[in-house]
Amino acid sequence: MQLFHIAIDGPAGSGKSSISKELANQLNCVHIDTGAMYRAVTAIALRNQTPLDDVKTYQFLESSIFEYQKESIYVNGENLTDMIRDKTINQHVSLVSSIEYVRKKLVDVQQIIAEKYDVVMDGRDIGSVVLPQAQVKIFLTAEIEERAKRRIHEMGLDIPLKQMIDDIANRDLKDSTRMISPLTKASDAIVIDTTYLTKEQVIQAILIEIDKRKRQHAKH
Ligand code: DC
Repeated sequence: MQLFHIAIDGPAGSGKSSISKELANQLNCVHIDTGAMYRAVTAIALRNQTPLDDVKTYQFLESSIFEYQKESIYVNGENLTDMIRDKTINQHVSLVSSIEYVRKKLVDVQQIIAEKYDVVMDGRDIGSVVLPQAQVKIFLTAEIEERAKRRIHEMGLDIPLKQMIDDIANRDLKDSTRMISPLTKASDAIVIDTTYLTKEQVIQAILIEIDKRKRQHAKH
């Protein structure tokens, strides 16, 4: 049977991860938070104290095994889930994710997982690069102030809203202007502005799209 792939892209704080997680739960498929992978690579590189702009820093990816278990991310058996939400990771992850070698390695891992499972995969380049054949592509957006509030809440941070708005605006700029696989809406993605919607309403809207696609598929 053909596998079913759902690609969810959007900027930081648009609700991608929590919505994808819940959606995967309801659909009983695997959830892959690709941002967590870029964060994990950043955490390892920072811990190794190697220069982030040198491609040799990322040689460890030649022998790294990424695993997800119950929303936790493991690299070579080490649980990095807590470490990757640190604010120093926020500051450096855009640089790490702009390195071509890192992207190639992580996209390979993401595509290998998708060859085996029905997935809900969220990130920046899923509909455009990682899963261009995904049956359903969603692009989530939200106003920046709302995104900053969500991030503060999600990460349990005690920082001024303005600081988070600046952090997100800075990352948005870097993520959408980088040379390789910038944050882009795939031409066939459906845009959902989540600013004034509850998580449940967004999930409902996505489920309706999935249903439509499945019915179109069944006709052909
Ligand atoms: O979604 P997030 O904030 O956890 O993602 C962290 C960073 O990783 C983000 O600044 C951009 C990068 N990223 C990417 O370049 N491509 C992806 N598919 C996912 C994340």
